[in-house]
Amino acid sequence: MRAASFTAPTLKALWRTRRKSFVPIDQSGVWRFRELLPPFPGEEKIITLREGNTPLYSLPSCARAVGVEHLLAKHQGMNPTGSFKDTGMTVAASMARREGFRWVGCASTGNTSASMAAYAARAQMRSLVLIPQGKVSWGKLSQALDYGAITFELKTDFDGCSRVLNEVVDRMPVYLLNSVNPYRIEGQKTAAIELLEQLDWQAPDHVIVPGGNLGNSSALGKAFVELEELKLIARLPKVSIVQAEGANPLVRTMRETGGKRLIVVQAETAASAIRIGSPASWKKAVRVLEQTGGMVAEVSEVEIAWAKAQIGADGVGCEPASAVTLAGLKKMVAAGFVKPGESVVLILTGHLLKDPDFTLKFHRGELFGSLLHSKQSEMLRAHERAPILLEASGDAVISALERVEERSEA
Ligand code: F0G
Repeated sequence: MRAASFTAPTLKALWRTRRKSFVPIDQSGVWRFRELLPPFPGEEKIITLREGNTPLYSLPSCARAVGVEHLLAKHQGMNPTGSFKDTGMTVAASMARREGFRWVGCASTGNTSASMAAYAARAQMRSLVLIPQGKVSWGKLSQALDYGAITFELKTDFDGCSRVLNEVVDRMPVYLLNSVNPYRIEGQKTAAIELLEQLDWQAPDHVIVPGGNLGNSSALGKAFVELEELKLIARLPKVSIVQAEGANPLVRTMRETGGKRLIVVQAETAASAIRIGSPASWKKAVRVLEQTGGMVAEVSEVEIAWAKAQIGADGVGCEPASAVTLAGLKKMVAAGFVKPGESVVLILTGHLLKDPDFTLKFHRGELFGSLLHSKQSEMLRAHERAPILLEASGDAVISALERVEERSEA
């Protein structure tokens, strides 16, 4: 039955009861909320890895660092393949299976391909992955390979891969699993539902999300609006979207055209997941900003690196693209858009282990070379923890440890 046939308290109780069930689709943090998903006759065709069910963490040291009192992180990197993509993929891949497709395909900056390859493999479908050459972290690439995807590295960027894929799906029976697929968006809505359930249906003041192809911000915004319509929540959170300065088409679109016309950019950022210059779902994202009263922000490469280390320092960690949320929040507090007493939820989209190269380079001081101003390097240096090479003796370890202690007390 559809959600509108239930009262809000009945829906809440139904979703809660399913948490105790041993049935796979009830254990999925996506299908548990199936009253808000498109109808899916033939439940045995559903492909689930028990996605969703992700934790909501407090971030006390991040909160202090940016000057807010109530800061939480919904960690979508704790999904089965390590990113939020699984919540949409379970729905869209199941649709592909039900429609009898042998091949599914996507263009990707890495996470979509890892997720698609896993869900396709579960259902013995073949997967076609198009990725920009040299611009996908090896953590993500290795996942796609392990799950048996046929992977083509193209001599172009993500936007070029998307164009090529569209041509391929026009000419071949390949089911398109990029986030323009409406079932991906429907599945990704469930992160917002689960978040509100974890907050006992009290909407936070702000939700902050990274923006790449802009499917996720669209999905979360759509979910909040539907939850309000169903009286599951009393008000909408403001949904704000953060991009890297070097990959900021939505920021420029809002600033230069008021959201009327897309400004395409040549994207460049070390947060490779969001290295996207021509986002497919920009119109939907503009609507989410308008409906919820959120803002767009852009953050520098140094700010992203700082924010990622800061999230790590709370024992949580995330991949670089997710860290734009904290860097963006810092700016929103400085601009007075987020007040110190307001509640804020960051959507962390990918797991720390997705991009170990970035983390190692950061700690070795190799991320920026000598490009930094001294003030910026100071801000980063405090977080750097490169491994230290020592002789294999207790004396060597103890004296090095004492030097570390002295430095942290100084
Ligand atoms: N964060 C991570 C970790 C991502 O992988 C992506 C997108 C985003 C944020 C942005 O989300 O595109 O919905 O605005 N990654 C895609 C991919 C493009 O191919 O994995 P979006």
